[in-house]
Amino acid sequence: MNLILLGPPGSGKGTQSSRLAKEFKLAHISTGEILREAVRSKSYLGEKANHYIHTGQLVPDEVMIEIVQERLNALDCKEGFLLDGFPRTIHQAEMLEAFTRIHLVVALKVEEEECVQRLASRKTCPGCGLTYNPVNHPPKKENVCDQCGAVLILRGDDKPETVRERLKVYVKLTAPLIEYYQRTGRLEFVDGTLAPDKILQNLKNMLQSKILLWK
Ligand code: AP5
Ligand code: MG
Repeated sequence: MNLILLGPPGSGKGTQSSRLAKEFKLAHISTGEILREAVRSKSYLGEKANHYIHTGQLVPDEVMIEIVQERLNALDCKEGFLLDGFPRTIHQAEMLEAFTRIHLVVALKVEEEECVQRLASRKTCPGCGLTYNPVNHPPKKENVCDQCGAVLILRGDDKPETVRERLKVYVKLTAPLIEYYQRTGRLEFVDGTLAPDKILQNLKNMLQSKILLWK
């Protein structure tokens, strides 16, 4: 099963993807995480991507397509994968169609203001990528990841003005993907404003019913 989780910044893609990938034994591919790791390790890719990430802009399509194509060739993707943060433009989606098959695209629905509020107070685990929020989704122990025990960090692009820019870019370049995937009957919406556990349950129910249909 090859999935895409779509939604604006802060809609909960990372939160749901890491759990869903574990439940369904899918490779979780977060392009944002790949880029942040490249920035951390000061690689050539990281140096190129840093400016785009910190100004809320998209890294050029050609760079992203090459990264994802290479990642999808890895052995752990053979039994299925979950893309979190890719594709983000129609061109990326078209290129993805050219080299793999996508079974389903799930769009998380959350209003812009809620996204801004969530991101203003988000903490991220640099170890496993889980995200927390002191208001809605606090870690059990302050500043420590429930899952892997790493100390939580703040992301550099979560300043409110950068978040606004990321949301503008989402509306202009990424939201058209909803119609793109709707046209081929592969899009499902999920309410992203419920509690994370409830959203996960809804996603699991939906995927299980789809898997039965695909068999
Ligand atoms: P990326 O890392 O993909 O960031 P994003 O899409 O902006 O999304 P976020 O990670 O900010 O939010 P999320 O939807 O994962 O929400 P989360 O689960 O964390 O990309 C970063 C940058 O990399 C881009 O701006 C771009 O520069 C570049 N990039 C990446 N991919 C690219 C591509 N394909 N092409 C070009 N450039 C690319 O949750 C957010 C917060 O809300 C957390 O605090 C969480 O705890 C909380 N929360 C989650 N669910 C709930 C809930 N149900 N109720 C209440 N709170 C919740
Ligand atoms: Mg994310």
